[in-house]
Amino acid sequence: MKPSSLTDPVAPVIVISPKNTSVIAGASEATLECVANARPVDRLQVVWKRAGVRVTQGVGAFGRRLTISNPSQTHAGPYVCEASLRNSTFKTAEARAFLTVLEPPYFTSEPKQKMMVEVDKSVEIRCQARGTPAPKLEWFKDAVPLATLNNTRYKLTASLSLQVRRVQPEDSGIFQCFARNTAGEAETHTHLVVTSLAPYFTTTPSDTTVTDGTSALFTCETSGAPKPAVVWKKGSQVLASGSVRIPRFTLLETGGLQIEPVVLGDAGNYTCYAANAEGAVDATATLTVWSRTFISRPPEDQRVIKGTTAVLDCGATYDPRVTVRFVWKKGPRQVTLTPGGRISVREGALHLSQTWSGDIGDYTCKVISQAGNDTKTARLEVM
Ligand SMILES: *[C@@H]1O[C@H](CO)[C@@H](O)[C@H](O)[C@H]1NC(C)=O
Ligand SMILES: *[C@@H]1O[C@H](CO)[C@@H](O)[C@H](O)[C@H]1NC(C)=O
Ligand SMILES: *[C@@H]1O[C@H](CO)[C@@H](O)[C@H](O)[C@H]1NC(C)=O
Ligand SMILES: *[C@@H]1O[C@H](CO)[C@@H](O)[C@H](O)[C@H]1NC(C)=O
Ligand SMILES: *[C@@H]1O[C@H](CO)[C@@H](O)[C@H](O)[C@H]1NC(C)=O
Repeated sequence: MKPSSLTDPVAPVIVISPKNTSVIAGASEATLECVANARPVDRLQVVWKRAGVRVTQGVGAFGRRLTISNPSQTHAGPYVCEASLRNSTFKTAEARAFLTVLEPPYFTSEPKQKMMVEVDKSVEIRCQARGTPAPKLEWFKDAVPLATLNNTRYKLTASLSLQVRRVQPEDSGIFQCFARNTAGEAETHTHLVVTSLAPYFTTTPSDTTVTDGTSALFTCETSGAPKPAVVWKKGSQVLASGSVRIPRFTLLETGGLQIEPVVLGDAGNYTCYAANAEGAVDATATLTVWSRTFISRPPEDQRVIKGTTAVLDCGATYDPRVTVRFVWKKGPRQVTLTPGGRISVREGALHLSQTWSGDIGDYTCKVISQAGNDTKTARLEVM
């Protein structure tokens, strides 16, 4: 081994390595430092590289310092300091450091300064922030962290908005959203104003006429905040409400009242009451119930002697408020009547004079009315 001498070349070494550095975007500059040694020192060369490309701008004397002015995200990444001895076979020494450019949080989505919401409605308060590193959001209501309020109606959605469900008067106040990261914080807020509204009708019930045994429907659509409670009454009797349920009477989701099946005694005036803390309204409609039309004196099978007159009876019982019409059929065909002719209908009954074998058949009496139809059939034989 040769004794070392002051003139013998010495391989390059890095004495002070650059350090991982964080800088806030927009700061005036960021500095990376690299101190190397080798002999002969005049042949020592220190260069800086970023992504394999030599950086020349901002490099100070002897490559000791790399200064990046106005750092932004585009400057972030790994930097390598390389020390080599010119005209030697020594290995290059290198050290690397990471430049992180931090960005304080900024909002990409903010709520309006003031939000008016009706009682019982849901509302979403938007708050989205960006920054490097990604900021964390924290919500406050009237300066109290939401986490300690423990309100199940306050929910953070996947889109990082705050959802307030079924808003109540006590939800009024200032909602603040803080976005924080190591580079700083940002705040945004909204004033939530909860409004209420007296009930009003969007659709009132209308007078309805139905036939006994069918169903009746009264509409009653209301609006208001909080959502008005609907109660249906007939006179002073409560028929349907949130708590009252009586067979045949159903309070519909829409506020309507369904009666099924309807009986004659249901006729009368029905009132829909809608109320909330702000007030009450009501509307009344009349239900008319017709008794169902039916054949009470049906035709009877009969045999007559050819040439005589046959009478097929047909009497109906019906509501005096409806009009009825009788139609006679022989087999599938309607019987043709000729005024003052051989075949006529009197008070529903079918009269056939001077019967002959061609009159033989099944005769059907049909009574038609707004309150229902009915049919009855009888057979006529001519001898
Ligand atoms: C480096 O080597 C080259 C030839 O290999 C020579 O011409 C040059 O003078 C040398 N430089 C130094 C600084 O020794
Ligand atoms: C420097 O940062 C890089 C990339 O984040 C990491 O891998 C490395 O461990 C850091 N070095 C030190 C000394 O913290
Ligand atoms: C939050 O509210 C729920 C239900 O109201 C209750 O069970 C729970 O103990 C509360 N937690 C806190 C931390 O107050
Ligand atoms: C229903 O109301 C009408 C008019 O509003 C009234 O004339 C009628 O007497 C009322 N009927 C009953 C059964 O109260
Ligand atoms: C009664 O008969 C008429 C005429 O055929 C028909 O238009 C009507 O729909 C019927 N009504 C019922 C309730 O079946």
